[in-house]
Amino acid sequence: MGLLERVNEVHDQLNKDLSNVQNTFQSVEDLRLKYLGKKGIIPDLFRDFGTLDPNEKREVGKVLNILKKLAEEGIQKISDRLVDSDCLNTGFDYTLPGFPFKPGHLHPVTQTMNRICDIFREMGFVTEFGPEVETDFNNFQALNFPPNHPARDMQDTFFIDDDILLRTHTSPIQIRTMMKQKPPIRILAPGRVYRNEAINPRSYCVFHQVEGLYVDENVTFAELKVTIEVFAKKFFGKDVKLRFRPSYFPFTEPSAEVDISCIICGGTGCRLCKHTGWLEIMGCGMVDPNVFKACDIDPEKYTGYAFGMGTERTTLLKHGIDDIRLLYEGDIRFLKQF
Ligand code: PHE
Repeated sequence: MGLLERVNEVHDQLNKDLSNVQNTFQSVEDLRLKYLGKKGIIPDLFRDFGTLDPNEKREVGKVLNILKKLAEEGIQKISDRLVDSDCLNTGFDYTLPGFPFKPGHLHPVTQTMNRICDIFREMGFVTEFGPEVETDFNNFQALNFPPNHPARDMQDTFFIDDDILLRTHTSPIQIRTMMKQKPPIRILAPGRVYRNEAINPRSYCVFHQVEGLYVDENVTFAELKVTIEVFAKKFFGKDVKLRFRPSYFPFTEPSAEVDISCIICGGTGCRLCKHTGWLEIMGCGMVDPNVFKACDIDPEKYTGYAFGMGTERTTLLKHGIDDIRLLYEGDIRFLKQF
């Protein structure tokens, strides 16, 4: 049989196969292999076609190409129809793009903590940690809060028993560090703290602080001021102005509270700063000699400064958020904005 007859025969067979093929992916694939696979009928015909002389080639080439096209398009059509009906049957559209995996990110408070730590790390502060369950000694006594001292009322404490409590601030990490290490000391201590306070838009019973402590010979209040200023400008922006207001903490003397010019109104007065033009960001002061004595450090030889700031408050200020509870509700619509 000549090649031309064979091609015509295959053409007829292909038409039959195309109309009789079963509606399964496997049967369609089998059909494709039978006609178009490497060892299939059509490539085989093409191989024989190569041996023809030029005259015959012209005639056979035409029908052979028509056959190949019929096989390719016919099989593709059936395969498309099958995909469509499969989508209908299972209700699933296989042609849809996949669901992207959304990576999570750090909580806004963690981001703030990390940023604060980064800025102070550049200035030579080393990170220290301490436990959240503390002794009364570390949280109060060594920090110059004598028993029954009224200043303890500033910090509403969750007591576990008479001597054990949930730390009310990160300042006990100052004590832990000075107990185990002698000056020079330059640490930054981030952590979670607890206070038995009513929950409202401005306060929560759990929050975070970052504590700083620098102890060496001849440390001055001027160094404290400049350090805080460098930090505030890096964190809140270089145009921010600072104000140190005299204050009281049992463990620092003198003590101050630090305000920055309002980051919303720039100092002219708005709702965020309650029309004062200022926002409080931290407490600070020179380490009280009594604290040095409790840690066996000579107050005649060494001086130091300490500061402590609430991370939630700093986060609220930085992003202009007016309710601290949003930071703890875990609402994804809120969190994904950061
Ligand atoms: N521990 C103080 C507080 O919780 C903040 C502070 C730290 C003040 C260090 C002065 C020095 O309010």
